[in-house]
This record gives sequence, C-alpha cells and structure tokens, in this order.
Amino acid sequence: MRIAVVGGDGTGPEVVAEAQKVLEAAAHRFGLDLGYVPMDLGGSRYLRTGEVLTDADLEQLRSVDAILFGAIGHPEVAPGVLERGLLLRIRGELDQYINLRPIRLYPGVASPVAALGPEDVDMVVVRENSEGLYAGSGRTEARGTPNEVAIQESVNTRSAIERCVRYAFELAKGRPRHLVTLVGKTNVLTYAWGLWERVTDDVAAKYPEVSLDYAHIDAACLWLVEDPGRFDVIVTDNMFGDIITDLGAAIQGGLGIASGGNINPHGVSMFEPIGGTAPGFEGTGKINPLAAIGAAAMLLAELGETEAADAVERAVAEVAGSLPSLRAGEMGLTTSAVGDRVASLVGG
Ligand code: IPM
Ligand code: MN
Repeated sequence: MRIAVVGGDGTGPEVVAEAQKVLEAAAHRFGLDLGYVPMDLGGSRYLRTGEVLTDADLEQLRSVDAILFGAIGHPEVAPGVLERGLLLRIRGELDQYINLRPIRLYPGVASPVAALGPEDVDMVVVRENSEGLYAGSGRTEARGTPNEVAIQESVNTRSAIERCVRYAFELAKGRPRHLVTLVGKTNVLTYAWGLWERVTDDVAAKYPEVSLDYAHIDAACLWLVEDPGRFDVIVTDNMFGDIITDLGAAIQGGLGIASGGNINPHGVSMFEPIGGTAPGFEGTGKINPLAAIGAAAMLLAELGETEAADAVERAVAEVAGSLPSLRAGEMGLTTSAVGDRVASLVGG
C-alpha cells in the first residue's frame, strides 16, 4: 500500500513523523507492506515556488492508496490561499465527500467538562465535505461603498446530502446504539434544512433498524457539553460540522487527540489531525502527536487493516490515559517520546 505523506506547515511535519513511526510499528507487527510518498505541499513551498497544488501533485495524490496529512497554514501567506487552494481543493478534486470525525473520551483523560466520563462521550460526526457554505458561492456588491453587500450562499444538492446521510446510516448500523442525529437549523434556514430533513427521512425509511433523532445546531452545542451521551452518529452539513467538531475535540480532551478522515468511499481518502499548524510550538518537541497517530489508525481502518487499526487505536487510548494532560507542552513527555510509547505498544 502506498501512502502519500504531507507534513505541511508548522508542527504538521513533526506529528506526521510520529504517525509514520507508529505505522511502521504496525506494519512490522501485522506484516503490512507500506510504502511512503513524501510530498512537499504547504506554505513554505508556496513562498519558495509560488505553487500551491500543481496538476502533477494531484496526479500523485490520485495514484496512492491513502494520504496522511499534517496541517497547512503559514503566517506569511494570506488566509484562504492554502485553505482553499490546497486542503479544500484536495477534498474536492479527490471527491472526499465525507469528513469523518470520531469523538471519544478515553479512560484516564480529563475532559474540561469535569462531569463527563468515557461512557458519556462516544460518537462520530459525519460532516458533509463537499458543499454548503464551503461551495464558494456568492458575491460582493457595491464593494467599498456604504451600500456594500456580501452574499455567501449555502449550496445543498439532493445527491450530495443523500450520499452523506446514507453513509451516516450505514455507520450507525454497525455501531451498538443504532442512532443517527441530524443536526441542522430547520426552524430558520428552511430551504437548506428543509431539503436535508426530507432526504434524511427518505433514507431513514430504508433503515428500520436505525433510529433517527433531530437537534438544532444551537441545542446540539449545549448538549455536547451538558449531555453528550445522547449522541451516537451525528450527520450535519459542512459548516455546522466544522464548528461542532472543534467543540467535540474540546470535550474529548482537546485538539491534541482529535483525528479526522476525508473519505471517498470509492477512492483515495485523506487522514489528518483536526487541529492546525500550532506555529507557536513548531520545533519545540511539545506538540501532541496523538491526533495524527489516531488519523493513521483511521487510515488503516479505511484500507481494511482492521486488526492493525484496532491495535493503534488501543495504544493511543492507553497512552492518552497515561499522560497528565493532552495539551501541547503539558504532556510531561516530548512529541517523539509520546510517539515511541505508542509505537512500542503497537509493536507488542
Ligand atoms: C478543518 C479546518 C478546515 C475547514 C480549514 C483549515 C479550511 O478548520 O479541517 O476543520 O474549515 O474545514
Ligand atoms: Mn475546522
């Protein structure tokens, strides 16, 4: 299996190196044949060459079995250039239409919501990853005048909603609680969420064994803090999914442990820690690599290497529970020592 490795900017390369270390341990233990294709993408390359993502880059990304991605973003590059030109472009070009974000509180990890324990926090957010407010549709009128108007449209197509909701129901079918919660805003954003609701009801009718619940996005935020146990699989649009998964990361102990996958179920998927480049920690050895290692576990699972994926996830859980804190600089261990610990557990 060939894996493209994109360290990117800031602490991205450091955490990805630890994830690769753990993949190697898993490969050794479970007899996997993994080859890596390192790729130089991100702000540093852009500043050096003016290139964000070339056709040759895309061709290479399309040719591998999966992508391990660190983070992108650079203080000297204008906001949006890399986000839209690189990360969102890869998601779109490779048709990674699902953004999958598990939210679990591991035993021994303290949530900032003190009342929460592992039994309360075990859900997966299925975020629509191709459209909504991220479609880039809109315009500015009367720019620079007192009458200026900025219009940013949310694009919602029946087919994109349906493939996303179906994915959520399939996922819920394989989980013990068999529950999908649609998170939206049907009471105000009636065009978009009216369609989401109709499509979700149609899909739900084909899954009698899965229950369907609904929560408005604002209430869902409250419940994520006060009563997250009511969620199993959440399905929502791109923007709401972006926001609630950061809140989800907070209740599971922070961005240091939050992993995600950009999934094309029939193509090349890309796995990443959902936190950013953490430029303040670059090169200090203080960043937590567990989110990137968790992303590697998701990568193995998507490639069908279930046993190896489970071993990596169990090791991440064990190491997470053994650290005094999951926050950068508060782990009591360096980045690479955390990676070593996971790798040695995986290696058996
Ligand atoms: C994420 C990030 C991205 C997003 C940014 C970097 C474009 O916040 O993966 O959640 O908004 O999707
Ligand atoms: Mn985000």
